[in-house]
Amino acid sequence: MKNIQTPHIKPEGVEIAETILLPGDPLRAKFIADNFLENSVCFNKVRGMLGYTGTFKGKKISVMGTGMGPGSIGIYSYELIKFFGVKNLIRIGTCGSLQRDVNIYDVILAMASSTDTNYMHQYNLPGQLSLHASYDLLSKSHEIAKEKNINVHVGNILSTDIFYSADKKSIDNWKKMGILAVEMESVALYANAIALGANALTILTVSDSLITGEETTPEERQTAFTKMVEIAMELA
Ligand code: HPA
Repeated sequence: MKNIQTPHIKPEGVEIAETILLPGDPLRAKFIADNFLENSVCFNKVRGMLGYTGTFKGKKISVMGTGMGPGSIGIYSYELIKFFGVKNLIRIGTCGSLQRDVNIYDVILAMASSTDTNYMHQYNLPGQLSLHASYDLLSKSHEIAKEKNINVHVGNILSTDIFYSADKKSIDNWKKMGILAVEMESVALYANAIALGANALTILTVSDSLITGEETTPEERQTAFTKMVEIAMELA
């Protein structure tokens, strides 16, 4: 893997681990590297999309920002799998709840991802592919959450490319189909992992509710975020 570079990732010889945590915000990647990893080394600064490799409980693990939306995470996850040989990609992000019993700060394991984006059109499938998490990562993360007494929801999420939608009613139709929450990255992450033969899982903390209008504060988000990182780290 020596000195491989892509247009968006230039590690300059620093190794990228087989397992990577993917927060949307690159500063979250730095926070994780500073607070959870030992001996972390920065492997990417291109466009400010910070990436680090270090160890956790003696195992090598990387963490890198993805930016927002399928376009951005689509680029990074593709390059990580295709050119750097990354095998396990674990997104750790936030989402908006679509169900009354999914409360802010709750943690969701995204078993499947539905979408209103065009991301899947590139594969020219004569139907619709079900985008799903890696069963291995999903079942392991569920076990880890149980051991840590962290209550999780497991189910289907919506991955959209529109945060400020002109159609306020559309979300109601997704809600009726049992979608737990909405976010903006899993479609591209799951599609790339399936298409390129890697394992992916999205773990989400609920940051706001589209049902009650409740929102979390940045401080509260940090605490809830820690629970999610603890589950993700143990997956390495
Ligand atoms: N919509 C889309 N993505 C999100 C949301 C939302 O309400 N909250 C957190 N990520």
